[in-house]
Amino acid sequence: MYKSLILAILLLISCFEASCSITTGSRSLLRAVNTNAQDHTNFAIDLNSTSFDAVLKDTPATFAIVEFFAHWCPACRNYKPQYEKVAKLFNGANAVHPGLILMVRVDCAEKINSNLCDKFSVDHYPLLLWGPPSQFVSGSWEPKKENSKIISIDDGRTADRLLKWINKQMGSSYSLDDGKYENEHVLSNLSDPGQIARAVYDIEEATSMAFNLILEHKMIKSKTRASFIEFLQLIVAHHPSRRCRKGSANILVNFDDLCPSDILSGKKQECMTSGPITLSNSHICGSEVPRGYYMFCRGSNNETRGFSCGLWVLLHSLSVRIEDGESQMAFSATCKFIHNFFICEECRQHFYEMCSSVSNPFNSTRDYALWLWTAHNNVNSRLMKEEASQGTGDPKFPKMMWPPKQLCPSCYLQSPQSDAENQIDWDQNEVFKFLASYYGNTLVKLYKDKELLGEAGSDKAVIDDLATSTNALVPLGAALAIALASCAFGALACFWRSKQKNRKQRRSWS
Ligand SMILES: Cc1cc2nc3c(=O)[nH]c(=O)nc-3n(C[C@H](O)[C@H](O)[C@H](O)COP(=O)(O)OP(=O)(O)OC[C@H]3O[C@@H](n4cnc5c(N)ncnc54)[C@H](O)[C@@H]3O)c2cc1C
Ligand SMILES: *[C@@H]1O[C@H](CO)[C@@H](O)[C@H](O)[C@H]1NC(C)=O
Ligand SMILES: *[C@@H]1O[C@H](CO)[C@@H](O)[C@H](O)[C@H]1NC(C)=O
Ligand SMILES: *[C@@H]1O[C@H](CO)[C@@H](O)[C@H](O)[C@H]1NC(C)=O
Ligand SMILES: *[C@@H]1O[C@H](CO)[C@@H](O)[C@H](O)[C@H]1NC(C)=O
Repeated sequence: MYKSLILAILLLISCFEASCSITTGSRSLLRAVNTNAQDHTNFAIDLNSTSFDAVLKDTPATFAIVEFFAHWCPACRNYKPQYEKVAKLFNGANAVHPGLILMVRVDCAEKINSNLCDKFSVDHYPLLLWGPPSQFVSGSWEPKKENSKIISIDDGRTADRLLKWINKQMGSSYSLDDGKYENEHVLSNLSDPGQIARAVYDIEEATSMAFNLILEHKMIKSKTRASFIEFLQLIVAHHPSRRCRKGSANILVNFDDLCPSDILSGKKQECMTSGPITLSNSHICGSEVPRGYYMFCRGSNNETRGFSCGLWVLLHSLSVRIEDGESQMAFSATCKFIHNFFICEECRQHFYEMCSSVSNPFNSTRDYALWLWTAHNNVNSRLMKEEASQGTGDPKFPKMMWPPKQLCPSCYLQSPQSDAENQIDWDQNEVFKFLASYYGNTLVKLYKDKELLGEAGSDKAVIDDLATSTNALVPLGAALAIALASCAFGALACFWRSKQKNRKQRRSWS
């Protein structure tokens, strides 16, 4: 068992060293566009054949528009401001309607792009193609091919006409004059479990936001350091996003250097202010996250949902991913994490009370997942009344006992009485089944689809699959269980760190 644990760890470590920089080019590119948007009018992203697949594969957007042009073509130059006006609505963290449509352009006059432009049968400039981003990855297009998911935009000559075309395609009513959170076209279909798939991006966003808040507010103190490590262990093993597992493992392995315990006991109570990972360059979920917006958790105004919704979804997704033997550890790590690190006094207090009222240790995934579900419904029930009397809720996302009947008919033994929401007769076996599939497979569906694109066969994919597959998780999970049994916290962290030290020594000898 130890052998496979060591193997898994070594594989993870070798990944940090070798292959994790594959797509950094495209990520920093996206970031550059996100942050420097005001400087120039470049909202659409310039791609070439090197960056094309990586950017289209990585985007959380539902649709992409690719403009093929040539820089010498005067019509294209004139068209640029029109395209930009629309791209401004959709691209980047400051977009009015973020996360829906990715708008890019490819200069076919550059030699490097000639194969790419051939594959998409570019015979005139500018040519605009529309489709799901994944269809463009290693993709092609022909004008008369039937059943193609990529279609050409036949009328996008001006910004107005392009937007009109998009509106017709999406059934939306966006306008070039839209302001942020105006004319929101919120995707909310209570009967569609598939919508949770977009939440994987929100979980990344919330994870990285939580981490940045912890660093910004210097919340890692000698008292809270252990609970931070405990939660890190949990997400290293079970975070639904692969890049968050990697990023958090990287931090966990280096934690002694990043945040020595003697620093904390001294006067200067700060972690990660110097060394390889500091506040300004720490990216627990990779350098592209945080993106600056939420998708599944997007509220209909700027003050609702977002972070706290993403945090709930993270906790639920962890609760269905752990092994039976880890349930008590996951429970205790989560309780302490919320208590020590969630900047919402009322929330941490309430949550702490619910945690404290648990008397018997958890011994199964099911029990812990159902406890968390009940705890969340208790919060919902309280907020339902508060929001009704104070009008502080999101009008488009009223609090409810969850899951509603539309989402999980079999979770209900009898019809809920309209005036007694708390007295719903739940079928707990069905609720757990539903939670496990909703926060388990459905949640990572988009990621799985993407993993099928392109990367198969590469070393990176093999390493990731090892780290992802349950086979590799069993030993990691076992180590977490040992952590629970043999010392209060940190057995796994100690183990990781001793591996890290050995590795450093071996390196310096060679
Ligand atoms: C640990 C914690 C404690 C909090 N405590 C408080 C508090 O005391 N007071 C306060 O004002 N706010 C509290 N909040 C914030 C509040 O619960 C909501 O997150 C916030 O109001 C945003 O609500 P939302 O509509 O996005 O849905 P959220 O409640 O954030 O839920 C997110 C999504 O999870 C799903 N969901 C809903 N209920 C359940 C359930 N029972 N089980 C599984 N999935 C579910 C739904 O799809 C929902 O859209 C807390 C948040 C957290 C993470
Ligand atoms: C392609 O785009 C990438 C990312 O912007 C850039 O680093 C690279 O230099 C470009 N290649 C060419 C040949 O222009
Ligand atoms: C909501 O989702 C369900 C299940 O996917 C689907 O059958 C239904 O048509 C959707 N409703 C709307 C209004 O889109
Ligand atoms: C939300 O929007 C209002 C008005 O547009 C603005 O004054 C406020 O600062 C915004 N709040 C946040 C948290 O961004
Ligand atoms: C958990 O403990 C209960 C008794 O407290 C027992 O009946 C049950 O089988 C245990 N479950 C697991 C998965 O060990």
